[in-house]
Amino acid sequence: MAGITDIGYCRENFPILSEETNGQKLAYLDTASSAQKPQAVIDKMSEMMSSYYANIHRGLYHFSQMATQEYETVRGKVADFIKAYSVNEVVFTRNTTEAINLVASSWGKANLKSGDEIIISAMEHHANIVPWQLIDGVKIKVVPLMKDGTLDFEAFENMLSDRTKLVSIVHVSNALGTINPVTKIVKKAKAFNGDIMVLVDASQSIVHGGVDVREIGCDFLVFTGHKLYGPTGVGVLWGREQILNDMPPYQGGGDMIENVSFEGTTFKKAPGRFEAGTPAIVEVIGLGAAIDFVRTIGQDNIAAHEKNMLDALMRGLAKIDGLKYYGQSQDKVGIVSFVPEWAHPSDVTMILDKCGVAVRTGHHCCMPLMKTLGIDGTIRASIGLYSNQNDIDSLVSGLKKAKELLS
Ligand SMILES: Cc1ncc(COP(=O)(O)O)c(C=O)c1O
Repeated sequence: MAGITDIGYCRENFPILSEETNGQKLAYLDTASSAQKPQAVIDKMSEMMSSYYANIHRGLYHFSQMATQEYETVRGKVADFIKAYSVNEVVFTRNTTEAINLVASSWGKANLKSGDEIIISAMEHHANIVPWQLIDGVKIKVVPLMKDGTLDFEAFENMLSDRTKLVSIVHVSNALGTINPVTKIVKKAKAFNGDIMVLVDASQSIVHGGVDVREIGCDFLVFTGHKLYGPTGVGVLWGREQILNDMPPYQGGGDMIENVSFEGTTFKKAPGRFEAGTPAIVEVIGLGAAIDFVRTIGQDNIAAHEKNMLDALMRGLAKIDGLKYYGQSQDKVGIVSFVPEWAHPSDVTMILDKCGVAVRTGHHCCMPLMKTLGIDGTIRASIGLYSNQNDIDSLVSGLKKAKELLS
């Protein structure tokens, strides 16, 4: 199989990339929102549904056994992909949002009491803010940012207190592209108090290179399948096995039980106790195909290609005057947020759409971050493993056109 350096090969795997939009060739620069899907994922899901689909963990017949085996094989693939200690540490959820809500509802409600503190950062996605706000009486402390969009580490250190129970932090900011030093954050928190739990939101980092839960040293890590070139409807909660087994179930129903009577119920150990009801079988199997695809291309190759594309994107954008950038960390992925000084971002994005360029405009589910930055939102161009120079050229020429028309 050819590698990432053969971009033509890579792009050919994504059927949507040869589509037109508004009569123009699609330049897809919104991968941070959701990645496009390779043929291998589409084929795998279609093959499963057309040739051996059945419910899992329930049937003794052949197709049910096959489906169960495939589903559980993906659990193993995920465990291997993030270097988990055991497959029992991998819980399938609907997405990152559900994974964080699971931890908040289960671990949070069992372990947090009024006055306890959770530390998050100013660059969190709503998915890592709102679930914690739903726990009564818990105090949320927010680590501020430096001017370049990096975390104020000293402020973080000073925030740790005897009441700190959890640090819940994004690995890579979806709005700024900043890579946070999560290993250092975990070390600092655990050195302060070994009982502090750390959750890492790896929704963006999982896509751009390797994520290694052993190296990071966290207690929970979450990500979503659709950003990893997989389907929507599937996400992952990774947690240390003992912690998961000590957590009460989050939802009750079929498949998560050991024994049910009208008097009471006993529950499976993790991960089963957190997967109530029929799960997203086809989507989980699609996620497995996405992981295979990414591994075949090679995560180091993907990271190197995206770095080149980020440099090319910055060179291209430098040709347009009057763009203000947000998130200028030295350590960042291919996510570039900017605001034109000469027009409203939404008007610019509408013109870009007419030019075939798909970028996201708005608060990127980071309203508190936007408030901190003193803006309503940004235009965000984000890179995936299939991005190429043509995509960047289309963006730059679209921006030139927008500037001519709007300024
Ligand atoms: C950093 C981050 N966290 C959480 C999420 C939420 O992901 P999902 O909507 O798939 O639950 C996203 C999605 O944009 C994200 O980028």
